[in-house]
Amino acid sequence: MRKTKTVTGLMTLALMAGGAALAEPVEDTLNVNGEIEMTTWTEASAAVDGALSEVISGWHFRGEETRAMQQDDFDNPGMIFVESAMEAWETAEGSEGKSCASCHEGSDSMAGVRAVYPKWNEAAGEVRTLEMQINDCRENRMGAEPWKYTGGDMVNMTALIASVSRGLPINVAIDGPAQSTWEQGKELYYTRTGQLELSCANCHEDNYGNMIRADHLSQGHINGFPVYRLKNTKLNAVHARFKGCVRDTRAETYAPGSPEFVALELYVASRGNGLSVEGPSVRN
Ligand code: HEC
Ligand code: HEC
Repeated sequence: MRKTKTVTGLMTLALMAGGAALAEPVEDTLNVNGEIEMTTWTEASAAVDGALSEVISGWHFRGEETRAMQQDDFDNPGMIFVESAMEAWETAEGSEGKSCASCHEGSDSMAGVRAVYPKWNEAAGEVRTLEMQINDCRENRMGAEPWKYTGGDMVNMTALIASVSRGLPINVAIDGPAQSTWEQGKELYYTRTGQLELSCANCHEDNYGNMIRADHLSQGHINGFPVYRLKNTKLNAVHARFKGCVRDTRAETYAPGSPEFVALELYVASRGNGLSVEGPSVRN
């Protein structure tokens, strides 16, 4: 019984993909502002466990114009949101009358941070995403209201924090105290969900390079997040993308910020270890 269903899911995927020919990821070089050299295509790290030999940024799967928008900050619509986060960075809020700058000085003090999140927090005894850490500072250090997990203020701030790490290799730790969370994320990645009975891996591991409807399937990395999408003309958070992808399998989805999505984020991030931080990137 289970087997029949599985076959149905894969057949559906084949139909959605329309049997179209493989469209190879484009060979190209990303060098933002002629200054920040990006590693967008590299050998897979041990975290991928042999499932892919090379890891390729989603940037290579986009069209020429979309790729070009990410080559220069003046053409990257995501950078406008980075600018508004720079203002938020300096704005005092909450009962303590403090801004991010009161404790962290310039936003460039965050260089390197994006590359290692999600990360184990010893004091809290949990794996934290960047969003969780930001809200922890807001609530417990500023006495301010937490931001909505995938809301505008939060996604803008994560774009600012990502932007100062651009070019650095993603390097999330998957061993030690983070290991059990990572394993939970891996299990979610390979679990088939929804009426279509598709796992993340069915699309992003088994079928990357194929066309699905009008879209060129990538390996589904998150090194480019938050992502400015031409489709909805705003920055999109990692968990919002996960939600969309799970919905596409016609399954009930987890909530942004849920332990399941935190675990999945750690796992997906680790698959991209070695790729450069690109956020905010541009995709369609
Ligand atoms: C009152 C001081 C204070 C304020 C204000 C504050 N933070 Fe923090 N922040 C800290 C401390 C202390 C840590 C390290 C805490 C820890 O590791 O648990 C930290 C850690 C962080 C980290 C993780 C850095 C790393 O290397 O892992 C991020 C990201 C961060 N803060 C962002 C922000 C942002 C964004 C704001 C403003 C919305 C902010 N913080 C406001 C004190 C502050
Ligand atoms: C039915 C196929 C399908 C499934 C199943 C699927 N996705 Fe996707 N996903 C897509 C398509 C299509 C896109 C847009 C094109 C692209 O970047 O691959 C996408 C994009 C993404 C992106 C954005 C990549 C970038 O560079 O901007 C991420 C991250 C992602 N998916 C993660 C996941 C995760 C995690 C799962 C499992 C929970 C999943 N996807 C399941 C089809 C799928």
